[in-house]
Amino acid sequence: MFRKDFPYFQNSKTVYLDNGATTQKPKSVIDSQVEYYEQYCSNTHRSNFGHANKATSEFEKTRKLLKEFINASKNEEIIFTKGVTESINFIASSYAIDFKTVIISSLEHHSNIVPWHMQNRTLGAGLEVVNCNENLDFDLEHFEELLKANPNAFVSITHVSNAFGKVHDVKTITKLAHKYGAVVMIDAAQSLAHFKVDIQELDVDFYAISGHKTFAPTGVGAIYIKEKYLKNIKPYQTGGATIHEVDYSGSILLDSPYKFEAGTQNIAGVIGFGKALEYINHVRYENIQSLENKVFKYLNEELSKLPGIIFYNDLTNCVGSRSFNFKGIIHDDIGILLDKMQIAVRVGHHCAQPIMKKLGIRGTIRVSTAFYNDYVDVDKLIEALKKALSMLKD
Ligand SMILES: Cc1ncc(COP(=O)(O)O)c(C=O)c1O
Repeated sequence: MFRKDFPYFQNSKTVYLDNGATTQKPKSVIDSQVEYYEQYCSNTHRSNFGHANKATSEFEKTRKLLKEFINASKNEEIIFTKGVTESINFIASSYAIDFKTVIISSLEHHSNIVPWHMQNRTLGAGLEVVNCNENLDFDLEHFEELLKANPNAFVSITHVSNAFGKVHDVKTITKLAHKYGAVVMIDAAQSLAHFKVDIQELDVDFYAISGHKTFAPTGVGAIYIKEKYLKNIKPYQTGGATIHEVDYSGSILLDSPYKFEAGTQNIAGVIGFGKALEYINHVRYENIQSLENKVFKYLNEELSKLPGIIFYNDLTNCVGSRSFNFKGIIHDDIGILLDKMQIAVRVGHHCAQPIMKKLGIRGTIRVSTAFYNDYVDVDKLIEALKKALSMLKD
């Protein structure tokens, strides 16, 4: 029903099932990029002429939209970044740097592991990892033990696993973490394309958002910072546009969000991000969820019928991504054959090597859906998988 809003599907015969890597963009988002560059391309927050003012107001409109979209309490709590990777690196290298212990989950993307290693934290020495059970569910009891043993820790956990689609119960995790004086950051790369988030209800302290996984252009994202932290967090980069006053003896920074947004921003990207949010508001999360859930369930049913399939988790608390292997078959070979049949999925470790190692595998075939995928996409995938399996078994 909404597929017609995405030019990619008119221009391409590819069955696109790699939404965990990036989503397709609706026409309104694409048009906003051309419009900015063709009609009012100017810098923001600097010059004071018509087009510059329009660029600034469109840019700031996205901040307000995102604030309302996640129900933050102030525009100042929304800081634009390149995406989740930059958001996490920013907080890791500024606010979180002095924490004695950082606690992550077993299902983290490298973006929420490597920044901590860069601070010389290793397992048991400044970095703790919460166990998961054989169904990849977060072990709340182990989490509580870690919180007790490491009071006032920094907790940094993904909302949804990009590799296996597991949704963490962020509200419960945050409540428990706060009880032990911990501060909580959530990697939301895989959330907003699938379900509504109310930041005040979750009560998290930091929320790292990716635009390109939420129907917006690449190279744009945001970090939500709860108001009470804004004053004391040091920017990790400074320069033009962050400054109230400078002389050779020192600098006075602006308040948030500007003190955190150094240099010329991805103006077109941020404007496009606003259009993506407007688009989701137009489609509505109820529709996104009902369309996606049906197809996701069907996908799972059809995959389950394939001989030799190995799943690593069931469908409870899962959204977006389904990961699997076939007994005796190398996942890369399946990837090559699917590509020849114009089926786009991701094969490999999905930037989540530690959990792959824990499972004793090198990687998986990951099918990741969005609300515009339909039963026909699943049928084509299954057909192609059957062909690939028969070729590889010969
Ligand atoms: C769970 C998770 N975290 C972080 C990232 C990185 O996000 P971005 O591309 O916005 O930097 C990804 C991207 O795949 C992801 O899936």
